[in-house]
Amino acid sequence: MNMYNEPKLIIDWDDEDKDYMLNGSTSWKSPSNLAIIKYWGKYGNQLPQNASISLTLDAAHTETTLEYYYAVPDSDWIEFYYDDKEMPAFAQRIERYFESLTEIFPFIKQFDFRIHSKNSFPHSSGIASSASAMSALALCLCDMERTYFRTLKDDQDFYKKASYVARLGSGSAARSVLPGWVEWGENSVDENFSNLFGTRVTEIHESFRNMRDAILIVSKKEKSVSSSAGHQLMENNAFAAPRYHQANERLGILMKALKEGDWATFGRIAENEALTLHALMMASEESYILMVPNSLKMIEEIRKFRKESGVHVYFSLDAGPNIHLLYPDNFKDEVHRFIKDTLLDLCVDGRIIYDQVGKGPQKLA
Ligand code: DP6
Repeated sequence: MNMYNEPKLIIDWDDEDKDYMLNGSTSWKSPSNLAIIKYWGKYGNQLPQNASISLTLDAAHTETTLEYYYAVPDSDWIEFYYDDKEMPAFAQRIERYFESLTEIFPFIKQFDFRIHSKNSFPHSSGIASSASAMSALALCLCDMERTYFRTLKDDQDFYKKASYVARLGSGSAARSVLPGWVEWGENSVDENFSNLFGTRVTEIHESFRNMRDAILIVSKKEKSVSSSAGHQLMENNAFAAPRYHQANERLGILMKALKEGDWATFGRIAENEALTLHALMMASEESYILMVPNSLKMIEEIRKFRKESGVHVYFSLDAGPNIHLLYPDNFKDEVHRFIKDTLLDLCVDGRIIYDQVGKGPQKLA
């Protein structure tokens, strides 16, 4: 049963303003995010096995336009274009996603859709795009609901539902609809935290509010294991139970560090979470090694630079080989020099995305 089981959201085509209602479009720009406490392991209908917390990014984002037309029998339900190129395989995935949303948005069966999407980061840069892509789509659908039914007027209701719907497309997308630092998953630290949607964390020290994240592209290859397959491998992983416990325990410690500006604690947890994620994948029954030699070289260099300079600079990784370099804004000159002198040559084609904590999604004109 959905939290949003809404049979009333059906358009009465005899309505007086039928003509204006027949078609339209909505466009949203939505960012990717980087989890510091990782979500890895899920159950039921896209529910996380442990709480996670992430920073919403800024430069790495997706822009999506959802065009909707009064449904014509026997036409394609969904057409999907990525960078103006038709992608039938993606259209099928979105069709399955929309099908799963018909209790929440019964009206989507009354329309045909054409979706145009593009990412700010190159397609084959190894950056996971499901968080930004699915959150952008969820925002478009909530916006459509708001237009037709005059619901979700209050921003809080709007983004809560968008996060809920985004989660059903991709778990990490639940965190991308909100700005700054976002928690997702029940945890004793705060009774408002939910498995169903993300919650913004606002007690954040200045130095973490504008933290920087330089994404160092070490490989452009597609991931060798999809996140969904990776989550599934946790089901038989011998370390699963202690891992979920560890993540839930860490949440409170990390939140305190974020509030107090305690970079040493933050860095210790961030690096350990990234390596734990990779260790879990290596220890799965079907084992994956997602780092490449240059990922390890960078990790060594980062630790060496930190020790020698005393600068707070730490790394994180997603389920891939690329390194996220995390550092305070006021050390950017030193860190950028270090990147140029030492890390740039280890990046593929010298590719780096200079990103930072972002302000969340944006409706486009
Ligand atoms: C390693 O959200 O991509 O990035 O729910 O199956 O779509 P699905 O998984 P996904 O998993 C993200 C895993 C991660 C960690 C994180 O973002 O918390």
